[in-house]
Amino acid sequence: MKIKNTFLMICAATGAFTVAHGQSKNTNYTITANQEKAHILSTMYGIFFEDINMAADGGVYAELVKNRSFEFAEPLAAWTEQKKDGGEGTIEVINRSAERPENPHIIKVNVKSDAGYYGLSNEGFRGMGIKKDEEYSFSLYARQESETNVKLSIELHGADGALIGNAELTPTDKEWKRYNVKFKATATVQKAQLYVWLSGKGIIDMDMISLFPEHTWKNRPGGLRADLVQKLDDMKPGFLRFPGGCIVEGRELNNRYQWKKSIGDIDKRENIINRWNTEFKHRLTPDYYQTFGLGFMEYFLTAEDIGASPLPILNCGMACQYNTAEMVDVKDLDPYVQDALDLIEFANGDASTKWGKLRTDLGHPAPFNLKMLGVGNEQWGEQYIERWKVFTKAIKGKYPDIKIVSALGPAPKGPEFDLLNKTFRSLNADILDEHYYAVPKWFLDNAKRYDNYDRKGPKIFAGEYAAQSVNTGSPKNKNTWECALAEAAFMTGLERNADVVNMASYAPLFAHVEGWQWTPDLIWFDNLNSYGTPNYYVQQLFSLNKGTDVVPLLLNNEAVAGQDGCYATASLDKNTNELIIKFVNSGATAQNVSFAINGSKGYQKEAKLITLRSDKKDAENSLTDPKAISPVQGTIKVDGKVLKLNAEPYSFNVVRLKNK
Ligand code: AHR
Repeated sequence: MKIKNTFLMICAATGAFTVAHGQSKNTNYTITANQEKAHILSTMYGIFFEDINMAADGGVYAELVKNRSFEFAEPLAAWTEQKKDGGEGTIEVINRSAERPENPHIIKVNVKSDAGYYGLSNEGFRGMGIKKDEEYSFSLYARQESETNVKLSIELHGADGALIGNAELTPTDKEWKRYNVKFKATATVQKAQLYVWLSGKGIIDMDMISLFPEHTWKNRPGGLRADLVQKLDDMKPGFLRFPGGCIVEGRELNNRYQWKKSIGDIDKRENIINRWNTEFKHRLTPDYYQTFGLGFMEYFLTAEDIGASPLPILNCGMACQYNTAEMVDVKDLDPYVQDALDLIEFANGDASTKWGKLRTDLGHPAPFNLKMLGVGNEQWGEQYIERWKVFTKAIKGKYPDIKIVSALGPAPKGPEFDLLNKTFRSLNADILDEHYYAVPKWFLDNAKRYDNYDRKGPKIFAGEYAAQSVNTGSPKNKNTWECALAEAAFMTGLERNADVVNMASYAPLFAHVEGWQWTPDLIWFDNLNSYGTPNYYVQQLFSLNKGTDVVPLLLNNEAVAGQDGCYATASLDKNTNELIIKFVNSGATAQNVSFAINGSKGYQKEAKLITLRSDKKDAENSLTDPKAISPVQGTIKVDGKVLKLNAEPYSFNVVRLKNK
């Protein structure tokens, strides 16, 4: 042990440790700090949200009861009949679709004995994550059948059966009414279950049986999981794209996302199956449904909370072309187009408008300042162009300032891409949404992708991307450091071209460790905890250190995009009066580099250095080691206008130099 420590000390003092990884050599880069090449918009780095991998129900939407309104295909899925101390009864599922088509199922429980307890338990989403000393709010809609007086005893049990919280409640009314009781948990448990015990002979109807932590994001009742939204807030994202992804499209049109059904009273939001439930045979998730408890109002509010510009993506009359490819006839497109127009009014209209009034009535009189809207998700083909034209005409006709995000299909090249790219450019589209899911090498090889893009054409939204350690769709993909580093290298190219690339977001965002369908993902969680992947820290470092204006960083008069395995970009931050350098060393050899900085009055003698690195390309973060790869803060000496950086193997370095 002693020998090892002594070795490390000598290495650190001499710099030999990095050399030990391979041959180090000196390279001279130049930065021209007074030559602003491109303005970096506040929207540059953002978030792509989709309810995939149990991101919403079972994830960021903090509801703990699964199938709370009995709307799964099996209405009693996740529920189990329970009896104790001689309790007896029956449970009937009643369909009241004539009265409540959007929430048809309720349960009628007939408690047949005055003795003991009869009832049912709920398994939660892979169990319920419960925290010691935190308060929980149980609620339900109920009505007693005349002359009965059934009482409820609510209990939370740990996986070992131990009681970890309880409360009593007696719904007294003969008409439907919402009841609520709060109680504290006495233990922290990853997989608790909820028991709803009924006592006293009688008949009671129940619906929307719900359990929420009191502590949610901003402590909103029925709100979002605070730890997960905190991770988004920590990224300081420029925009929030929602609600997806393919979920916008649906496997068939009936299954598409309809924003109007996702707002208002939660018991009136029609539940549907989540399209990812059945998507991958190797990752079937039969208990995946959408309650829309996280609906459009909540998306807008979250965007506002975290300072992100809202970017809703709407169905354009086409279901997922990988699935049914079902389409609505162009002559029948009106309701779809109207949804888009109404959404703009909902977001921005004042209380004198129908939809602006609804937003006001929902508690948000101020507009959400919607500036952009996506028409279709990952569509392709002539059929998309046809429908896109109808949408664009209507939206631009009424709201000329709204920027339309247009899809360029699922891949960044090929005939589908070429057709849309050519057509939308000729039609002066505002923003083109490019997607790339590819192996790390693709990201390294494409760091110059935008260097020669038309500067006068549409802006680019790198709307979905993630390096795949195996290949796209493989359940074996991991969030390795190699993938994250390749994304960082590629992102230097996005930033260098900020005059063309205005927005970028990694995808998908969230994944439950037991409930996922797609990997890799930016943030993983279980019922209690979460962690950011190395990819998350790459996104965060770019976002927190984007600066305001790109300046040239060159090697022999060329952009730094792969020479000796290095990738770099530089920007000014006019708000903090700093020069920011981002430098990726994707190779196994340390790089001793020096930057000659022209066009500045000089810098303070010490700069901030933030490093993200690992010796192992296949290293990952995990629930047990959440920060194995995470930013390390340090300082670095500045010698007048020269900065020397020893970029370690496999490292992403951010340097912030403060002007004198
Ligand atoms: O991010 C996962 C999926 O990948 C999205 O839903 C879709 O747009 C893309 O194909």
